[in-house]
Amino acid sequence: MQVTMTVNGAEVTRDVEPRQLLVHFLRDTLGLTGTHWGCDTSNCGTCVVLVDGEPVKSCTALAAMTAGHEVRTVEGLADGATLDPVQQGFMEEHGLQCGFCTPGMMLTARALLDRDPDPDEQTIREAISGQICRCTGYATIVRSVRWAARHGAGAAAEAPAIPAPAAPPAAEEVPA
Ligand code: FES
Ligand code: FES
Repeated sequence: MQVTMTVNGAEVTRDVEPRQLLVHFLRDTLGLTGTHWGCDTSNCGTCVVLVDGEPVKSCTALAAMTAGHEVRTVEGLADGATLDPVQQGFMEEHGLQCGFCTPGMMLTARALLDRDPDPDEQTIREAISGQICRCTGYATIVRSVRWAARHGAGAAAEAPAIPAPAAPPAAEEVPA
């Protein structure tokens, strides 16, 4: 069957198998491999893309279901050479280590900031609760989103930074 949708601002029309998952359509048909594929069982959230501005796990959606809709992947976050504040925030606050979860995390953050430009820590943690990071941990991811809130368009007020965790004691300070 033939489907037409908008992907990162450009209209695309392709023949798809009715059963083809959106994640495979994006990666294999369109070559947008920034969308990662982890568990295939709707558990990890690494495959999140935005469909009409809402985070969707692309391993649990069919490509055909997005016909007529707007899909945004991580490749569509930056505006030319200008990074989205969310991308900049992940750089500034070291919100990634291996980077596998990062595209989905950033897209969820983008959707959150679009509807709430100044989310608190709990709101951010709830927003990303369907996504798993296996290495960095969530503190730096939350701080990255807060950085974006402080520096992104629509962030009217300067949001207070979330303090970094205290450094572990030096070896000589550890009681015997
Ligand atoms: S690959 Fe989609 S939730 Fe894990
Ligand atoms: S940075 Fe490695 S899984 Fe999140």
